[in-house]
Amino acid sequence: MSKPLNGKASLVTGGSRGIGRGIAQRLAEDGATVALTYNTSRQGADETVAAIEGSGGRAFALQADLADARAIPALFDLLDREFDERTGSKTIDILVNNAGNSGWGGLADATPEAWDTMVAVHARAPFFLVQSALGRLRDGGRIVNVSSGAAARAMAAVPIYSMAKAAINNLTHALAIELGDRRITVNAVAPGWVRTDMNAAVRESADMVKAIEADTALGRFGEPADIAAVVAFLASDDGRWVTGQVIEASGGYKL
Ligand SMILES: NC(=O)c1ccc[n+]([C@@H]2O[C@H](COP(=O)([O-])OP(=O)(O)OC[C@H]3O[C@@H](n4cnc5c(N)ncnc54)[C@H](OP(=O)(O)O)[C@@H]3O)[C@@H](O)[C@H]2O)c1
Repeated sequence: MSKPLNGKASLVTGGSRGIGRGIAQRLAEDGATVALTYNTSRQGADETVAAIEGSGGRAFALQADLADARAIPALFDLLDREFDERTGSKTIDILVNNAGNSGWGGLADATPEAWDTMVAVHARAPFFLVQSALGRLRDGGRIVNVSSGAAARAMAAVPIYSMAKAAINNLTHALAIELGDRRITVNAVAPGWVRTDMNAAVRESADMVKAIEADTALGRFGEPADIAAVVAFLASDDGRWVTGQVIEASGGYKL
């Protein structure tokens, strides 16, 4: 049976765990060859690849610390080689900027170093990943940025995170204009609360979990597959007329 992403090559950053793993698995299930990146979780990345291959999909993992700007050109050198071997071409069809570090620092305890690292991973890295991808991205391709509901509904407890995600929303709009003449769509998916390591500490509090579920119209935390489904739509041909949008996928958080 023909799958919606058959023959497509994709890059998903932060595919070793959480939402990125869910996105990598979904794109592979839909037929794409998936390159996924990891930083420290080599084992997690191997598990994602094994799960994809176990279901008959195609994937491989590459290490890149996206807090380091020099990691990006090095990553694309490796990608060129790996994609060429696997698909006979260096072309990329789908780029998903998902990787994100937590570091839930507030105003009082923030340091310039923590600020730099947070903004580097959430905002600088996607910018330069797109810059490096441009020469390899097929006309009619897709860029999907994983933002957060916290970009539009700032969270006082995590001001740096909220700022960095607001930057991604703005970049999404700018890139959609810039790349429209190549029919490349650029969108952001903004999750609400999703059950991943990123908020494991929050979920240790039964009261917090109750409060979050009560504030969510659909009454539960999201799962990585809930976010991956939206990314898969945007990546597919059905998503061809959607660009420059930030789509909140939060089960209706704080409506
Ligand atoms: N979970 C939520 O409720 C939620 C809500 C809104 C938005 N989001 C966004 O969704 C995205 C994924 O979050 P998640 O919840 O899946 O988080 P997660 O489970 O903590 O996974 C984070 C991923 O990002 C990678 N990463 C972290 N720091 C990195 C660095 N310096 N360089 C390269 N990769 C790095 C990790 O790689 P390693 O493990 O290999 O180090 C991992 O693959 C993030 O952009 C996050 O802001 C999450």
